[in-house]
Amino acid sequence: MAAIKSILTETRVFPPAEAFVKQANVSGMAAYEALCRQAETDYEGFWADRARQHITWKTPFTHVLDDSNAPFYKWFDDGELNVSWNCLDRHLAARGDRVALIFEADDGSVTKVTYTELHARVCQFANGLKSIGVEKGDRVIIYMPMSIEAVVAMQACARIGAIHSVVFGGFSAKSLFERITDAQAKVVVTADESLRGGKAVPLKRAVDESLTMGDTSSVERVIVYRRSGGAVNWGARDLWWHELTQTQAETCEPVWVSAEHPLFILYTSGSTGKPKGVQHSSGGFLLGAALSMHWVFDAKPDSDVFWCTADVGWVTGHTYVAYGPLALGMTEVIFEGIPTFPHAGRFWEVIAKHGVTTFYTAPTAIRSLIKLGADLPAQHDLSSLRLLGSVGEPINPEAWMWYQQTVGGGRCPVVDTWWQTETGAHMIAPLPGAVPTKPGSCTLPLPGIMADVTDEHGGPVAKGHGGYLVIKRPFPFQLRTLWGDPERFKKTYFPQELGGATYLAGDSAHRDEDGYFWIMGRVDDVLNVSGHRLGTMEIESALVSNLRVAEAAVVGRPHDIKGEAVVAYVVLKGTRPVGAEAKQVAAELREWVAREIGPIARPDEIRFGDNLPKTRSGKIMRRLLRAIAKGEEIAQDVSTLENPAILDQLKEAVK
Ligand code: PRX
Repeated sequence: MAAIKSILTETRVFPPAEAFVKQANVSGMAAYEALCRQAETDYEGFWADRARQHITWKTPFTHVLDDSNAPFYKWFDDGELNVSWNCLDRHLAARGDRVALIFEADDGSVTKVTYTELHARVCQFANGLKSIGVEKGDRVIIYMPMSIEAVVAMQACARIGAIHSVVFGGFSAKSLFERITDAQAKVVVTADESLRGGKAVPLKRAVDESLTMGDTSSVERVIVYRRSGGAVNWGARDLWWHELTQTQAETCEPVWVSAEHPLFILYTSGSTGKPKGVQHSSGGFLLGAALSMHWVFDAKPDSDVFWCTADVGWVTGHTYVAYGPLALGMTEVIFEGIPTFPHAGRFWEVIAKHGVTTFYTAPTAIRSLIKLGADLPAQHDLSSLRLLGSVGEPINPEAWMWYQQTVGGGRCPVVDTWWQTETGAHMIAPLPGAVPTKPGSCTLPLPGIMADVTDEHGGPVAKGHGGYLVIKRPFPFQLRTLWGDPERFKKTYFPQELGGATYLAGDSAHRDEDGYFWIMGRVDDVLNVSGHRLGTMEIESALVSNLRVAEAAVVGRPHDIKGEAVVAYVVLKGTRPVGAEAKQVAAELREWVAREIGPIARPDEIRFGDNLPKTRSGKIMRRLLRAIAKGEEIAQDVSTLENPAILDQLKEAVK
């Protein structure tokens, strides 16, 4: 495991305002501590209470935690439920007319859907899936733009017990192909095009391409939602969404499943080239989604308008767009576009337009919006806001302060939420009516989450010292396994060095004198670029699959807006290019990576060398490459390098 970086200090503390505390779902520190104590004294009883409170069960569970086959933990596994029924049907009687989704399209047009309407649409699509042979346990790939239909597709899968795997619409045909084949998907749901920032992205074309890349014979049908009306090629297995659904009944009896039945697979980057299929359960995941809405977002279903800006292609869009808000019967905004189109005030405009009360976004968006117009929020009426959230990467204290002061007017608590694709829901985050916040810290774990910072053997580290962020006890919303790869699941998350039962998050962190957590970044070869996880090995594999490239090493470099930038060191098969040639090859390789993985992985910078700095045993010295990328003086002894002379070449970035 890698070395830990240095630590910063931040002394500002913001206790929750009295008015907020008064109305909070968890009110005051004593209430938070009481919950923590209950979890400590009766761990299973604590989780059982929460699962009864937040989920409506078809068959109540009698088992809580089954750890007989650790780390393949099971929760509530003899209980039966349906996630879609919990998100829709259970609200119909009391709040069927309430708006569930407010869809804000790229061009600013708005479509609202009530719970009754959403229920009917989900049932129709679920019936459509059934009519083409989709059954419980089948995998459905969803490669869709942000849309009501994307949520409908996910909920419809949940309704019939099919396992969805959403692939972010910005991923390439090749990435899509890898996910389709790994999941052995029976159906792919897509759209003709997605519209973002006034530009059309041809999704159907990428699906067509992915299906020619190898053996995709598992795929029986491709369902196409007509978003833009753009031209598409049509094949024998293609079906229009509207044609599939128009004759379907508006009711569909849900398939009741065990709490342990997989709800979805979501692929995420790890430290090898192959993305990991993170598999979540139905009961545990739903509990995490609903509970964290209640605790961390202090959800008030009768009056809140919730807006999470994440795409459904990421876990944040699963938990806090497709499931969490609906599980509580809330009204939420779904946004198709980008923060800067048609102008840099778009986010603030949308908040004012829909009266958003709870806003959840990523530090990278906050930083870029500060840069584009720190005073723009003041031009909009943001008085509806009462709570602000941040997710995806460490938020720097300056951005936190701006968010709190300029967007939140100093009256809204800021919840910095640490969690991961693997944890399914918030893990370390302030309960806003209880826990005082500090800019840059995700504060304290949710009650019942036994988070800690340890050394590499699982031993304690002193306050203020960095170490590995771990979770010491299993929790209901954690991933169950990696799809098709239980060994990798065990090795990655429950390593023997930590005893085999402690969850290793892959982040480094430290705790301050108040026990607050400060996340310092990944300890593995995973980058966090604009809040998105990218494996350096994935980008390296993409580069070396280009015929010109002999060898490549990818590292991250701090970046003002994106958090981290991708820097690639490349050795070509021929001679090292210089001048105009270097420029041209670098441009070509950047596009190559964007095509292979997706535009988010496009290297910010490419540097060419005759070779790479290696130890005499042939190991690439990544630490050195990171230092060079940052423009740091090389303090380290380079005498063990096989080829110290190339360091000067690598200092030269292609402009
Ligand atoms: O490094 C942490 C960072 O994002 C990683 C998880 O990425 P992903 O699975 O894509 O999920 C992102 C959305 C939950 C973590 O290992 N991260 C996430 N939230 C925070 C964070 N780092 C610091 N502070 C956060 N609030």
